[in-house]
Amino acid sequence: MRRLVYYAAVTLDGYIAGPEGEFDFYPVADDMSWINERYPESVPTPLRELVDMPADTPNLQWDTVVMGRHTYEAGGMTSPYDHMMQYVVSRTLEPVDNPQVKIVDTDPVELVRTLKEQEGLDIWLCGGGNLAGQLIHEIDRLMFKSYPVIAGGGLPALSGNFSPTRFTVTARREFSNGMQLTWLDRA
Ligand SMILES: NC(=O)c1ccc[n+]([C@@H]2O[C@H](COP(=O)([O-])OP(=O)(O)OC[C@H]3O[C@@H](n4cnc5c(N)ncnc54)[C@H](OP(=O)(O)O)[C@@H]3O)[C@@H](O)[C@H]2O)c1
Repeated sequence: MRRLVYYAAVTLDGYIAGPEGEFDFYPVADDMSWINERYPESVPTPLRELVDMPADTPNLQWDTVVMGRHTYEAGGMTSPYDHMMQYVVSRTLEPVDNPQVKIVDTDPVELVRTLKEQEGLDIWLCGGGNLAGQLIHEIDRLMFKSYPVIAGGGLPALSGNFSPTRFTVTARREFSNGMQLTWLDRA
């Protein structure tokens, strides 16, 4: 069955962004190409040219992405991942005139369970913390880019009620800026 993979950049104190959505405090890595080669679908379609990636590079791990309305709007694009099916969870957004973008106002848990039953590659949970907190029991794998910075406040990687959920580290890789990418599967 397809897995739901929450891939996000987090601070040491567990935030994915500052209180106003700031993310420019993450130190830049010069070896992100390692990730881009293995997860090309994580590079927004309109930005592929900037990293010398052909626009039609095939998806390797994920062919579907799920995100909350704030995350979608933060990207500022109608179809940021046009090479995937994009599900934007929102009760307020109007439908988008693009077959690759579906606005969904139903329970995100039901949405993810339905997607998992379909054929395909794994599903990327892009965020944000509000949506991820609601989907904690559906997350099969975490891929956290842990940056060596403390934000001191901001938007949590997962917001919700106290509910310890164990994961097992399956791999870890360190990058030139001290960022550690850790793969964790649900225990
Ligand atoms: N560091 C990273 O890797 C990373 C990754 C992703 C996002 N981010 C950042 O995180 C921030 C956004 O995160 P966030 O936690 O504030 O918000 P979010 O989870 O992206 O979006 C929250 C919105 O999603 C909709 N939603 C959530 N639950 C719903 C439900 N059950 N039914 C229907 N709609 C639902 C609602 O939109 P409506 O109000 O329209 O109903 C809600 O306001 C942005 O600044 C983004 O840049 C960072």
